[in-house]
Amino acid sequence: MLTAQDIKKKVGEQAAQFIRQGMTAGIGTGSTAYWLIMALGEKVKAGLDIRCVPTSTHTARLAREQGIPLAELNDVDSIDITIDGADEIDPQGNLIKGGGGALLQEKMVAAASRELVIIADHTKLVDHLGAFPLPVEVITFGWKQVQRFIEQRYGVSSQLRLKDGQPLLTDHGHYILDAHFNQIIDPAALNTALNTLPGVVDNGLFIGMATQFVIGYPDGTVKTLPASRPSTAE
Ligand code: A5P
Repeated sequence: MLTAQDIKKKVGEQAAQFIRQGMTAGIGTGSTAYWLIMALGEKVKAGLDIRCVPTSTHTARLAREQGIPLAELNDVDSIDITIDGADEIDPQGNLIKGGGGALLQEKMVAAASRELVIIADHTKLVDHLGAFPLPVEVITFGWKQVQRFIEQRYGVSSQLRLKDGQPLLTDHGHYILDAHFNQIIDPAALNTALNTLPGVVDNGLFIGMATQFVIGYPDGTVKTLPASRPSTAE
């Protein structure tokens, strides 16, 4: 049986094959995307000519250390493919992302991409989104009003995300509220409703954005699944 790290390494390395000569690729953030970046670094050293748009400052630093050529989102017309992790994946292929705090940049890079390939281990496949706290990125001004609205409207508590005892500041200078929905009945409606709330910058729901999934299992199997209905069944 593979460890969780081994599974992440396997799916990250396998997904690196999707990025081919001459492509502009978005590269994700998190412990699974780490292995993608390591594998891409090796390929670049071996001669693969690509440019990558990072989804966070952390990923940009890692990629730079590996010698991967980087581009700003503003400097590309479109992105051929983005490969990123996820915190939850539902049977319709909708996602919760942002456990690493990079949801805003991840969603912008994904939105500019022709393909979004999600790399994850099988524990990320769920029947309903929401057991993982939904990250909601808010501006620092008046954030308690957003928290109050979420509590009143949905009966859901949320916590300001902290780091070393201080509010975590995202790459773009915002806070994150982690909202405990438990079970999200209509992710698309919730995504729209949250994003129309003054003070909300974006939230971690990625609706209909993923085009393919690369899912790893403890027995070493890696399955490539289409956009809809990734199954929880082994
Ligand atoms: C980063 O903000 C997140 O969206 C990550 O992509 C997500 O949390 C998955 O991370 P892991 O691969 O570390 O589980």
